Parts: sequence; structure tokens; C-alpha cells
Amino acid sequence: MAAADTFAFRGTFFHTPAYGQLEALRDAVLVVQDGMIARIANGSEEAAVRREFGLSHVRRLKEGQYFIPGFIDTHVHAPQYKFTGTGTDVPLMEWLKKYTFPAEGSFRDLDAAHHRYSLLVKRFLANGTTTAMYYGSLHLDPNTVLVDTIERLGQRAVVGKVNMDRHSPSDYIESTSEGLRDAEAFIRYTLDKKCSRIQPCITPRFIPTCTPELMKGLASLARQYGTHIQSHISECCGEVNCVRELHPEFASDTALFEQAGLLTPRTVMAHGTLLSDQDLRHLASRGTAVSHCPLSNFFLGDACFRVNHALSLGVKVGLGTDVAGGISPSMLTAQRMAVVNSRCLRAHKLAQSGGTTVTADMEVDVLGWREALWLATVGGAQALDLSHAVGTFAEGKEFDALLVDTGLGGTCGPFDVFPDESDEQRLEKFLQLGDDRNLAEVFVQGVCVKRGHVFEREAAAE
Ligand code: GUN
Ligand code: FE
Repeated sequence: MAAADTFAFRGTFFHTPAYGQLEALRDAVLVVQDGMIARIANGSEEAAVRREFGLSHVRRLKEGQYFIPGFIDTHVHAPQYKFTGTGTDVPLMEWLKKYTFPAEGSFRDLDAAHHRYSLLVKRFLANGTTTAMYYGSLHLDPNTVLVDTIERLGQRAVVGKVNMDRHSPSDYIESTSEGLRDAEAFIRYTLDKKCSRIQPCITPRFIPTCTPELMKGLASLARQYGTHIQSHISECCGEVNCVRELHPEFASDTALFEQAGLLTPRTVMAHGTLLSDQDLRHLASRGTAVSHCPLSNFFLGDACFRVNHALSLGVKVGLGTDVAGGISPSMLTAQRMAVVNSRCLRAHKLAQSGGTTVTADMEVDVLGWREALWLATVGGAQALDLSHAVGTFAEGKEFDALLVDTGLGGTCGPFDVFPDESDEQRLEKFLQLGDDRNLAEVFVQGVCVKRGHVFEREAAAE
């Protein structure tokens, strides 16, 4: 007899084991056992696989359906979800004061936090984000609500309590000692849950709002508990100039983070649009990743991040929505924006040349949808130190996957398909044109967390 938590699918599985290379596992049988991929075999071996795992049934995917790995969002501000899609009229430093700090502070109301975080996590799961690296807010308690919500709804996440002990509003600031105490309390709260899907993270907001003393104390907590670290680095002119004024003795954000001990193989730094090559090499030498947030960079950044260049220097790169600096809570949009961002770099080089000849040098920054899919899956897994668990379909990895249905057609779906298209073209259409309507089922650690309009774990708890 098969264990109740052993099941199998037969059909097509798309993933990107190498940057820009799409692999299709066609007519494959994939067995999930205890949340892990126990076997990937050819369809012709179905009978043997069924015997081996004691399976009476293998579910065949319908025409137009296939699996891809779940999306990994490496940079989300959970409390900012409430105002996503609004407040895009001012630069970063003003935006923080005008919209962000008041919105984040309002999460002290724990009933509101509970309601809003449920909507956030459901929205992200519905959009196919099986793993997210979240910033919470300053106050300890709403962050525990966020962790509880993620646990309840079944997402995989790295979550941090935001720390800020200077240059912040008087009602949205902590002392250095309170910040360190609450950061540790949050780590302990999260670890005590013993939920293998959720890991705590050290989160100095960014250099302007964190004293060197706080940053060093946080680095020491990260070492003590072996946690991830996340922050913002070289995001835009306003931020970089502010840091230069505060710390003229440091040549760059990177040098300052290095001195604080915050650059580790488990660190994810968001944006990085103004990083020099020297900075990028330094991040690479530390194993620190950059979360590329193209849509947010268009609004709040002042430059386009060069993904291919950073990768060529050995920097790990993942993709982020940066909700709410990024106005879309979907990693599909993030992938599309990564492609558009890369094409802006190309257009800029052509404009700079003053001519009408496109040279090979102008093409080096360009990404296509395959590269974007890699960033949203494998790149994110590398950035979050989760490559052993997620990002591709391989035996021994956990089953975090999206059942994509491109067969909706007509007026039901966001695009139309035609009989003469290949399944790869339909995947391309989904990535370029699709939305949550195309995600029939969402799996995290082998558990279906969303089917159609139902959040399965929530339904089970009721
Ligand atoms: N820098 C410091 N805080 C933030 C934030 O909330 N969003 C973005 N995009 N940049 C920041
Ligand atoms: Fe951010």
C-alpha cells in the first residue's frame, strides 16, 4: 500500500536547470513522497513505478496542462501590500516618509495585521509565489502574525523583523537595544515553531535608518543563529547620497555593510542598481546575492540593474517584486519587467552610440523569457540558499510546483491558444500573457495549497 502522502503525476514538466536553457521533461512520471520528489521516470515505466511505490493511480495531466517550479520572490515588504498599486509619485526617501512608514506602523493593530497578512499570503500563493523573502515591520508582534499566517496557509518563506534606530519618524523607530532584543525574540519565535518551511532573517532596513552599532549587533545575531540577512543596497541616488553624507569614510554601501559583518553567503541585498564593478566583485567574493527588482527600480531607482553583467562577475541574482515599491504582487510581472529592463539597457547603449547600428556589445544585457524564468526559480533558490530543496524538478528536491493550465481559451483566460502551437510556445504565452487564472493548482512541499479558488490549508482548518 502506498502511504497517503505518496502520489504521482504523468505529463510534461518544464524547468530551467541552466541559465536561459529550458528543459522539458515530456511524458514523465513524477512521484511525490512526504513532500519530496522521490522519482522522475519515463512514462513508459509507469507500471513499474506504480508497483515500486504501491500506487493504484497516477494522475494524468490534461491537454494544455503542465508543471513548472514554483516562483521564488526574493524581496517583498509584507505590510506594504495594502497600498500596492498606489503612491508612485515621489522618490524613495520621500516615499518612505509619506506612504511607507505610516502604513507599516498601522500593523500594530494586530486584528488588522491578521486580516491584511491573510490577504497578502493568499494573493502571493494565487500568483504562484511558493517561496517569498519577506520584510515585516518594526514592531515585534505583527511579525509573529505574519509568520503564523504563512505557516497556516502553507507558503515557504524567509521572514525578517525590520530594524531601524535612526532617521525614522518618532512613532516608527526603536532604540538600538530594543531593536536587538526584538530581533532575537523574533528569531526565537520563528525557530520555536519548528516549521521547516519558515526561516527567520536579520533585517536592517537600509543604512540611512540603522546605526553602525545596530548593524554590528544584528550581524552578530545572524552569526549566532545562522540566519539569513536582508537589506537594501545602492538603490538610488537619494539613498546613496544620504549614506555618503552620513559616512564619508566609506567609499560605498558595500564597504559599510562589509565592515558591519553583514555580507555573508546567506545575505540578499535588494536593488544594487548603483553598485560599481568593485562592489559587485566584493559581493561575489562573499557569496552575497542581489535581489533584482526591475519594476521597483523603474519607479524608485535611478538606473537599470545589469543582470548578465552581475552574473558574469559571479554574483548570485534572484528576482523580486519589491511590493510596494514594485506595483505588482506577481512574479510573472517581475519576469516580464526583467526582460523590459534588459531591453532598456540595450536601447540606452544604442542611443549613446548616436547611430543606427546595433552591435553585439549592445545585446549583452538582453534577457529573454527563459532567462527570466531561471531568475524566478533557480536564481531565487540560489539567493536564498535553497538550491538543495527547490528551483528545479529533481529527485531529492521538494515538490514546490505550479500546475499551469493554458487550455482555458475563449473569454475565460487571459490569452488564446491555437492548435498549431507547441507546448513550449504555450509556456511562453503563459509567461508573457498569463495570470493567476492559469494556475490551476499550487503546491508547496508536496501539499496543494491552492486549487482553483480554494486555499486548501485554510479550508482544512475550518
Ligand atoms: N529602502 C529602505 N526601505 C525601503 C523600502 O521599503 N522599499 C524600497 N524599495 N527601498 C527601501
Ligand atoms: Fe524594498
